[in-house]
Amino acid sequence: MSAPREQFSSKTGFVMAAAGSAIGLGNIWGFPTQTASNGGAAFVVIYFILAFVLAYPALMAELIIGRHARANVVTSLRHISNGKKSYALASGVGFYGVITASLILSFYAIVAGWMLAYLFESITQMLGWTQASEWLTGFGLQRNLIFMGLFMAMTMAIISSGIKGGIEKWSTRLMPMLLFIMIALTVYVMTQDGAMEGLRVYLLPDFSQINPGLILDAMGQAFFSLSLGVGTMLVYGSYLSKQDSLPKLGAAVTLVDSSIAFLAGLLIIPAIFVAQKNGVTVFTESGDMIAGPDLIFQVLPSLFDSMGDMGLIVAFAFFSLMSIAAVTSSISMLEVPVSYMTEETPASRHQSTLIVGLIIAAISAIILFNFNDLFGLVIDLTTVYSQPILGVLMCVFVGWIWHRNNLLEELKAGHDNIESTLFWKIWPNYVRFVCPALILATFIRAL
Ligand code: PFF
Repeated sequence: MSAPREQFSSKTGFVMAAAGSAIGLGNIWGFPTQTASNGGAAFVVIYFILAFVLAYPALMAELIIGRHARANVVTSLRHISNGKKSYALASGVGFYGVITASLILSFYAIVAGWMLAYLFESITQMLGWTQASEWLTGFGLQRNLIFMGLFMAMTMAIISSGIKGGIEKWSTRLMPMLLFIMIALTVYVMTQDGAMEGLRVYLLPDFSQINPGLILDAMGQAFFSLSLGVGTMLVYGSYLSKQDSLPKLGAAVTLVDSSIAFLAGLLIIPAIFVAQKNGVTVFTESGDMIAGPDLIFQVLPSLFDSMGDMGLIVAFAFFSLMSIAAVTSSISMLEVPVSYMTEETPASRHQSTLIVGLIIAAISAIILFNFNDLFGLVIDLTTVYSQPILGVLMCVFVGWIWHRNNLLEELKAGHDNIESTLFWKIWPNYVRFVCPALILATFIRAL
């Protein structure tokens, strides 16, 4: 063990950081597009229910383990194990989490690099630098490598500065900015022709669309959105003070994350309909709404172009929003391997950040060089397969391996009367039986 452990300086600092991790490209891009392709408001309703009945309990499992053990994900899981077998399982699950978090970052940094490139492009366009603009939006290998590197460098700079001076400082600066930009953009889009039609699609539920597929999609989205399974929330929980009530803080993070996803829907779905009104193609030949990268890098830029001079400002604001959302999430991913290395090897935080960051950037570069083979594969391996498996395992640790008295003890810190709350009556059995069963169901469907 090297440096003494830092803590978040306040509850607000933690909520900003954890909400920053949760609120990312998954909220602003994933949630609205999933909503659009899953029958609009019916998906929103199911998503909100699942965020609270399934994702919230799983989030609590991670926060509690982390705050109890006050260590990185590997050491924390070992700490609550109760024999040789569970110790070995803890090591396996812990390292699996570290690797998954690192791999998620390796593709996330590529996508975030695209956002940065488009952010720069909104500036070169204002300046009339046509050639630079073409290069920035050209998806060439060189551009992709440079902007992935730039994004990783930003992420590493923040993580290298530690918890208070890095994660907390930047999350508390950037999250209010994110909210401000998002509200301003939403208000602007609402004033445009076509927005009301989008709003109708988004807000009027067609409950006949609810089917098992929709429910499972909503569950997967909730899980990715709350950054669950890979140890990010566990590690953030490990920097929390014993005076804070975990159930309340976890609920605050879930509420903020879901609300921002909801707000993102109010922005993106009406924007798609405004684009259509302005003559932009928003449906594929088969009649589905364009949802993947083409939505962000073709439909929306065409929309901004059709807005005249104002479109330049809107583009700048939109890609700033995406970049901010991405960086407050990526720092939480990098913290997972860095906290392990800092605590379990003689390397300092600076050294660990540099080594781990360079390895992840190298993996991102390998993905970029073999884009067609690796990009989708890494996303599937990490988010479709590994996150649900790890989620089940975290619940198993809290529900089956960890001694119940110790669990209660940990929850009592910061919440004296926890035993008489509904939370304590329901949650322990819930993480024991219901969460693993439901998560496994998602997983089996994904297979
Ligand atoms: N929650 C982030 C998003 O919605 O974009 C993604 C994410 C962050 C996933 C951190 C996993 C993780 F460890």
